Amino acid sequence: CGIVGYVGPKPALEVVVEGLARLEYRGYDSAGVAVLSDGKLQTEKRAGKLANLRAALEENPRSADGIGIGHTRWATHGAPTDSNAHPHVDNANRVAVIHNGIIENFAQLRVELEERGCKFRSETDTEVVAHLLSEELAERGDNDLGAAMRSVCRRLEGAFTLVAISEDAPDLVVAARRNSPLVVGRGDGENFLASDVAAFIAHTRDAIELGQDQVVELRADSITVTDYDGAPAPVREYHVDWDASAAEKGGYEYFMLKEIVEQPRAVADTLLGRVAVDGTLTLDEMRLAPHELREISKIVIIACGTSYHAGLIAKYAIEHWCRIPCEVEVASEFRYRDPILDRQTLVIAISQSGESMDTLMALRYAREQQSRVLAICNVNGSTIPRESDGVLYTHAGPEVGVAATKTFLTQLVACYLVGLYLAQVRGLKFGDEINTIIGQLARMPEQVDKVLQTVEPVRELARSLADAKTVLFLGRHVGYPVAMEGALKLKELAYMHAEAFAAGELKHGPIALIEDGLPVVVVVPSREGRSVLHDKIVSNIQEIRARGARTIVIAEEGDDSVRPYSDTLIEIPAVPTLLQPIVATVPLQVFACELALAKGNDVDQPRNLAKSVTVE
Ligand code: G6P
Repeated sequence: CGIVGYVGPKPALEVVVEGLARLEYRGYDSAGVAVLSDGKLQTEKRAGKLANLRAALEENPRSADGIGIGHTRWATHGAPTDSNAHPHVDNANRVAVIHNGIIENFAQLRVELEERGCKFRSETDTEVVAHLLSEELAERGDNDLGAAMRSVCRRLEGAFTLVAISEDAPDLVVAARRNSPLVVGRGDGENFLASDVAAFIAHTRDAIELGQDQVVELRADSITVTDYDGAPAPVREYHVDWDASAAEKGGYEYFMLKEIVEQPRAVADTLLGRVAVDGTLTLDEMRLAPHELREISKIVIIACGTSYHAGLIAKYAIEHWCRIPCEVEVASEFRYRDPILDRQTLVIAISQSGESMDTLMALRYAREQQSRVLAICNVNGSTIPRESDGVLYTHAGPEVGVAATKTFLTQLVACYLVGLYLAQVRGLKFGDEINTIIGQLARMPEQVDKVLQTVEPVRELARSLADAKTVLFLGRHVGYPVAMEGALKLKELAYMHAEAFAAGELKHGPIALIEDGLPVVVVVPSREGRSVLHDKIVSNIQEIRARGARTIVIAEEGDDSVRPYSDTLIEIPAVPTLLQPIVATVPLQVFACELALAKGNDVDQPRNLAKSVTVE
């Protein structure tokens, strides 16, 4: 989502809409603004592109008194409609709020507000903040919007950035930050705020980054930052020396590089609000009742490309945890082979875009056969979730790079959540293993972060292989689909021949391909539990090395058994085998991306590929 706020002498509406245009690259499905016009709060918001908002503003022109806020929304709670678009206002239409992120306890707060007589006009979590601020201002009676915001924030759970204006405080824009980005732009007699500097870089390059749990009060000539208790808070001031296009990419040369580093956050957002401290999972938004989930006797996963690889990994986890047979099939093959489906079959359609035609046609076919369909998707309100019985959204945020990275990791998280939730509602004994897994899943954001901090040698390795003709990938168990994803990334980005094999299949044919100097990437399973698997792959590494392969081994830290046979050893954190794909995929993404860059390719828009393929 994009956020813009302005206070100063320029026409506020223009500054805000122009700021939103500069954030368009982030992807959004609706847009809106709020200004004070002759002291009265005025809002305008529209589903769809900024052009719709601009048209509405032209139809109904208004002046602005020098403050304004604007928002482009990437739907999380509620479909992308006019009424769900931001800003949201209180019942008296005196306070307007925009928001990025997720307020986890909004359902509870909404019930309380409704009991006190509030009328809700949207399905969003954001609207509770408008009503809470209004109540708080009325109670205080001193028009102190900053204090009201601090007090409201103390009652909110989740990750959010909030921005508000009010008729009661006509010279002020107030914003709060917990865990979602927010930067302030310091101007001369004017100030800005935005979700990233791209929004205001045309006006100022002096920026202030807000820390966690801080509130900023922005007036034309002052910027005050406090913590939620009102104590002055430390901030980081910096000068932006990027140009506008680099600013969109957060200073990275390509969106893909930015999206790779955003993965810890994307994983955290996808877990947010779904795992309670005691390990119980809440996935009510799935819209499939526990009794329906208990009736399921078979699961079929359909998907394409990278999403298919997430499905392959899900199979290992779901069958192991839930003891329900699970098939995985590429969507384009599925409906043409007369598959056996019935009411007891749960079909899971995985698609980051929610628009892949192959997946859509397969899910329509499954519904015709009376199967229940659950979508795992990153785009709220897109066709695949709309046509499914239930949906679990990944919260990766917009992904601009064509080759999927952060959406893949979040699909894995969503698949694990579905598997664990099925086990929970079906009353399977939550033994130690499941509890450990849930605990480890919650730690995945930091584990991915660890991987990202140690990938520099992978970049060097990639550059040294820019002239290779082919790269092979080997894996076992969940490492096999990870190997497939590594090979796909290399094909997509580096236009290089790459192929993945199940390491056990090596001796049945592919070993004939091994020749002197051939790079082979091997994903080694964790040593936990299934050590037989681990030992087998160590033998495979020896076999290929004896035949001249250049071995690039991805193994968990401290796994000394592979060291003697690794030309390059890439270490990843030790995590349970079933979760290992979350950490093992990251070096492969970096490898493919860096190799493609070394060849001079555009990694955001690889040749011949499209982000969502809406033809069969
Ligand atoms: C396209 C993209 C792939 C993606 C696949 C599935 O082919 O280039 O990166 O994995 O579609 O997309 P979906 O949106 O359904 O996950």
